[in-house]
Amino acid sequence: MDFEKEILKLLKKETKQDLKLEIPPNPELGDYALPCFQLSKLFKKPPHEIANYLELKIKPQGFIQSIQAQGPYLNFYINKAELTKQTIQEILKKKDKYGSSLNKEKIMVEFSGPNPFKAFHIGHLRNTVLGESLVRILKFQGYKVIPVNYLNDTGTHVSKCIWGLEHLKEKPTKDRGEWLGYVYSLASEKLGDSGIEQEIHKKIEEKDPKYLKIWKQGVKDSLDYFNKIYKDLDVKFDKTYFDSDYINKGKLIVSELLKKKIAEHSEGAIIINLEGYNLYKALVLKSDSTSLYITKDIAMAIDRLNSYKLDKLIYITGSEQKLHFQQLFKILELYGFKQAKKCYHLSYELVMLPEGRMASRKGKIITYSEIKKELLSKLESEVKKRHKSWSSEKKQKAVQAIFSSAIKFDILKQGPEKVIIFSPDKALEFEGDTGPYIQYTYARISSILRKEKPKNVNYKALEQSEEFNLITKLSLFPSVIKKAAEEYKPYLIANYLLELSHLSNEFYHKHKVLQAPEKIKQARLSLLQATKQVLSNGLNLLAITAPEEM
Ligand code: ARG
Repeated sequence: MDFEKEILKLLKKETKQDLKLEIPPNPELGDYALPCFQLSKLFKKPPHEIANYLELKIKPQGFIQSIQAQGPYLNFYINKAELTKQTIQEILKKKDKYGSSLNKEKIMVEFSGPNPFKAFHIGHLRNTVLGESLVRILKFQGYKVIPVNYLNDTGTHVSKCIWGLEHLKEKPTKDRGEWLGYVYSLASEKLGDSGIEQEIHKKIEEKDPKYLKIWKQGVKDSLDYFNKIYKDLDVKFDKTYFDSDYINKGKLIVSELLKKKIAEHSEGAIIINLEGYNLYKALVLKSDSTSLYITKDIAMAIDRLNSYKLDKLIYITGSEQKLHFQQLFKILELYGFKQAKKCYHLSYELVMLPEGRMASRKGKIITYSEIKKELLSKLESEVKKRHKSWSSEKKQKAVQAIFSSAIKFDILKQGPEKVIIFSPDKALEFEGDTGPYIQYTYARISSILRKEKPKNVNYKALEQSEEFNLITKLSLFPSVIKKAAEEYKPYLIANYLLELSHLSNEFYHKHKVLQAPEKIKQARLSLLQATKQVLSNGLNLLAITAPEEM
């Protein structure tokens, strides 16, 4: 049962208002609380008077044990036996659908966006991990989601890399795409802002067969390299866009924008004046009639909104592109797209390593491969030590699962507006705020349930406070998912899973399960089964595997 919804129904009957409940910071203040400030404004009475009034008016009934006014809040206490039975039964019935919902909107999520001819660095990793999780969360909430990637396959980075291929005579390594990134970084350091690579840029634009061939091969090599990483991270896209496909479409859009009087001529170039919205001027066509980054984005967004009939577009990029997307959404609005107001730019901050090694343009970037190598070497020896008897295949599988959970969880547990200081040692800890800790909790529950499955459960046997805390947490899963989807915040789920793991371990340390008296044992086993299900549902939304053994 959705307790929150039921309480809101009761409140609506009494107040005729659509209200919002909060989850009190500790269970002594009730399971749900109504802050009375909104009603206070409406009825022109102090909030505590409203709370007192409602306490008298609404009689506790059914699943509600009691209702108490406390200062400006009205607190609701759910009947524990009812909460226990309803929650566990619902989880075990709905299984991997517990927490899911239905929605109609069609949403395109663009994420990852690494650049061909360059390396896939830890900034792209943050983007990719965030995007995949958001896509899964939105799908789980019933939205029609179209995950897409966008690769900038034109621009100075391309010509710089090709210049490097011709002049630096580096020997290719096994992964051609990764090697191109390396050549790019050398070339970029050598060339600086000299502009020497312009020659090559022109040759590609003029479709010189020799350079066109090198360019095509390079894009393919890069794509192969990115695809290996996506496989590693369990990430999928329905479609990949390339900016080279939008050079002409971009120019066509500019003439349309001129006709619609959205764009205007200015000193030989074409601009869109957004100063009235405090968004400066957007240059959309240079005086030599080359198009810009935003020109292609305008054309591509219009193309996407029309061909997929989207209700919303979400873009994930670094925070340095904030203005770009504000301008883009405003231009879409001026163009006449009602959806523009719903479009969303999810921006995130840098990822750094503790020593201050960071992603920068000066060639000192940390690539995905470097981080992976570092984590794998630490993990391999750890897993070998722990599981001498395992086959090497099984060990390898475990290493891969722990590696990806360590890195993904460390990224997802923090809000995107925070700079991440990624510490490989900390992310790998089995005790701590880490992915492996949650996986370990899951594996431990699995091992208990392998020994015995619950049967003939009587939920009344659950009456310890550690059990209730765990059950209350389980009952909140659907509302956490809903909020994470509506506010685009995967970190709410990551933090929920940490708290759920803590509560589950607290329960497990305090109370016997398999050695408890029969009736209690069965009830506790079913509580563990429900916990296991919710951990699995949550981990899946973060694209982290839930291992039966670890
Ligand atoms: N490749 C771009 C970059 O590295 C990000 C692409 C963002 N997407 C977009 N539609 N502009 O900055």
